[in-house]
Amino acid sequence: MSKPIELVLMGAGARGAHAYASYAFAHPGEVRFVAVAEPDPVRRRRFADEHDLDESQTFASWEELIQAGKLADGALITTQDRMHVEPTVAALEAGYDVLLEKPMADSLEGCVRLVQAAERTGRSLQICHVLRYTPFWQTMHDILSSGRLGRIITVEHRENVAWWHMAHSFVRGNWRNKELSTPMILAKCCHDLDLLVWNLDDPVVRLSSVGSLLHYRAESVGPEIPLRCTDGCPIEAECPFSALGIYMDARLLPGPRALAEGETAPNSWPFMTMTNDLTWEGRLEALKTGPYGRCVYRCDNDVVDHQTVLMETASGTSVTLVMHGHSYEEYRSLRFDGTKASLRACFGHQPEIVIYEHGGAEEVVDIPAASSGHGGGDWGTFSSFLRVLRGEEKALTDVRASLESHLLAFAAEEARLNHQVIDMASFRAQAEALG
Ligand SMILES: NC(=O)c1ccc[n+]([C@@H]2O[C@H](COP(=O)([O-])OP(=O)(O)OC[C@H]3O[C@@H](n4cnc5c(N)ncnc54)[C@H](O)[C@@H]3O)[C@@H](O)[C@H]2O)c1
Repeated sequence: MSKPIELVLMGAGARGAHAYASYAFAHPGEVRFVAVAEPDPVRRRRFADEHDLDESQTFASWEELIQAGKLADGALITTQDRMHVEPTVAALEAGYDVLLEKPMADSLEGCVRLVQAAERTGRSLQICHVLRYTPFWQTMHDILSSGRLGRIITVEHRENVAWWHMAHSFVRGNWRNKELSTPMILAKCCHDLDLLVWNLDDPVVRLSSVGSLLHYRAESVGPEIPLRCTDGCPIEAECPFSALGIYMDARLLPGPRALAEGETAPNSWPFMTMTNDLTWEGRLEALKTGPYGRCVYRCDNDVVDHQTVLMETASGTSVTLVMHGHSYEEYRSLRFDGTKASLRACFGHQPEIVIYEHGGAEEVVDIPAASSGHGGGDWGTFSSFLRVLRGEEKALTDVRASLESHLLAFAAEEARLNHQVIDMASFRAQAEALG
């Protein structure tokens, strides 16, 4: 076997240190991390210990790591949404091939800069559209591109975000506020738009969108409700968004068991996002002082809790994408109706694809088993990046392909805010001119 691919990591948070770097433990002959850039000293130390890095291989910021020169074959960049463009451009210019978390950038200008930087330097830049690499979506892609459904007339694609995930990420957490991160249609649905672009292979020509923040706002409760769930809230026991019920005894989270009083939480999502100290006392302190203990009606959130995007493609297919944060469980539901058959599918805990041929048979399609987070997509994306670096395969997607899904998300946000129908040809032309 050839020697392991060497990588540097910028941003040792939930995605970088856990979702992707965990692959290295299971496949030590394939990949080795040789440096990390992470300002949080606890996360930096933990990553260094886990990957056997010494002091000279750890950096307090991506800028310091870049200044050290080219240290590896590739860079994994998993900083927060608003910190994607600068480290990626710097890494490409330093000669790294890059795997970058989605969304590629928080602005159209940033997206175009990334495409231009990749093309200028000739380096590979892949965005973590992890769902493309799942057995489920690869099966869907094979069916949809086979012509078996005939001409596709309508598509309904729903991104059903569970109520507690909405509260965690988009009300209390990192993606709650457009100015601090990105609009929810970009943060959550650049994946869904990427899948539509990939599977339909039929450019969107026109797009409109409606949506708003209906529920998670101050007017939804009375003045007696305190700022934090730990402040003696009178409705805490019955509130489905109680921070105590999500992060302390975990009674509100789906999963096999709640946590006993005094028990340390597992070092996994969503607990790992709220604090580095996962003991009972550490979590309680984080709820009393940090963002995750705030009442969901008393936060500085402004991203929508529901948005619908209506699209027409060049061949005339109409596509509806519904995103909302009030689902009883987390899953995507899909329906494609074609001139020869209909397809219904569900991508969640129990993935299912069923094809109904017009006047013919109904087939429940076999879906190969998945082996990591996001239905197998996290490790699927990462291992594909390694094979691309070893020259064993061509990347399944590239940054120019990713630009299209991001353009659709920005267009949807503009359409929603300005009550417009967007002509995508002129929107694309305007975006290209920004570079
Ligand atoms: N592909 C997916 O499906 C998927 C899923 C969830 C999140 N994401 C994306 O992944 C990215 C990371 O999300 P996360 O949940 O891991 O966030 P996180 O906050 O846990 O991790 C980001 C890390 O970057 C570090 N950082 C901050 N400034 C830095 C600097 N100057 N240099 C180096 N590191 C720095 C932070 O300290 C933090 O540890 C986000 O853009 C998010 O939208 C993608």
